[in-house]
Amino acid sequence: MSQSAAASAATQTPGERQFQRCINCHQIGPSARHGFGPSLTGVLGRQAGSASGYNFSAAMKNSRIVWDEKTLTAFLKNPDGVVPGTRMRLWGYNDEQQIRDLIAYLKSNPAPASR
Ligand code: HEC
Repeated sequence: MSQSAAASAATQTPGERQFQRCINCHQIGPSARHGFGPSLTGVLGRQAGSASGYNFSAAMKNSRIVWDEKTLTAFLKNPDGVVPGTRMRLWGYNDEQQIRDLIAYLKSNPAPASR
């Protein structure tokens, strides 16, 4: 009965709003699948290029990075600078607060408990 159809955008957290920059290529959440980019569910604490079922670039697989606040922040600001040769293209993401919001959102989507 209410007219709340437009409410969902307003109820997004700041991090969810930031994630809109990623959704063309990435899914996240319990039922996320790999698409053009790998699923980002549980990406915090994961070794770069290690998610099974996704065909990462050699650059990503060999980067030896573990994703945490520091490495993710650096990567988002300059993907090719941190992982030279990565297939991920993202420009102009520099706002520290927006990146913090985004990482908080990624953290709130941990890997599902293993069976
Ligand atoms: C234009 C498509 C595109 C967009 C937009 C994009 N990505 Fe990516 N991303 C990719 C691709 C492709 C890869 C795999 C790169 C490789 O293998 O070199 C990737 C890889 C990653 C990885 C490494 C994952 C792992 O398991 O090692 C992270 C983290 C990541 N992206 C985060 C983000 C975030 C956060 C955003 C939004 C701010 C974003 N990406 C936006 C295409 C994209």
